[in-house]
Amino acid sequence: MQELSQTDQLLGEALTYLRDSWGEIIPDSCMICGSGWGPLADDLPDTQSLPYDQIPGLSATTVAGHNGQLHLCRIGDGHTLIFQGRRHFYEGDGWGPIRFPILLAHKLGIKNLLLTNAAGGIRSSFEVGDMMVLSDHLNFMGSNPLIGPPANQEMPRFPDQTEVYEPALRNLLVQSGQENDARIHEGVYVALSGPAFETPAEIRAFGSLGADAVGMSTVPEATLGHALGLRVCGLSCISNKAAGISTEKLKHEDVEEAAKIALPKMKATVLSFLNKLAG
Ligand code: HPA
Repeated sequence: MQELSQTDQLLGEALTYLRDSWGEIIPDSCMICGSGWGPLADDLPDTQSLPYDQIPGLSATTVAGHNGQLHLCRIGDGHTLIFQGRRHFYEGDGWGPIRFPILLAHKLGIKNLLLTNAAGGIRSSFEVGDMMVLSDHLNFMGSNPLIGPPANQEMPRFPDQTEVYEPALRNLLVQSGQENDARIHEGVYVALSGPAFETPAEIRAFGSLGADAVGMSTVPEATLGHALGLRVCGLSCISNKAAGISTEKLKHEDVEEAAKIALPKMKATVLSFLNKLAG
């Protein structure tokens, strides 16, 4: 109960701070930028930005390439909240810092949640720079972000997971990618805690379990967002072939570099998608 009430208090303070800074705006959508996706938020038109460390409850990111800014961006007739930088389970601070942005976005009234990440490609036809819309996931993080008291009274204790990723949003993402000549697929994402990359034997095992791409994020936010009743979707940039699929050894810098090359199509796809959502 202690953790919940402290979180509630910080959420209230963050909400007040954002309303004081931005007025009574209710964003329709929220995007979380994963590895490689941050630069997308750098030059969006009509945007107001605040550093994480000024916002109660939001903590600075510890991973290279995760900038730590919250943006409010006007797209079409609506507003989108963009978290430029995310916290990860492997940073060692538990689920709190990963849950907080989703709880805050929900409190602000968003309806749609777009989660992005960089992922290793397991499906043999995936090339570096492709995008994958998440159709489902395997949670191999070794824990569940919903452990502990439910975030609010409406949240079910045992949330159904049959359709975590909203079919209508998945279709809109695929359509947006195709309109921008991106190589875009749908597939299953397997999440591990990291921070070590996987072994080739693990990748072979996950491939035979039905995984198409592998990463260290997204599943916690998707699970929480879905349990809160948000319309959730996920988009991976395939930044490398997973261990053993390529003969190259894996480095975080290469992940960032690959995403940089694919960035124009990632950005065009997301902007088309957000414009369609704002409709
Ligand atoms: N494994 C895990 N996480 C990742 C990878 C990978 O190959 N690429 C980008 N994030």
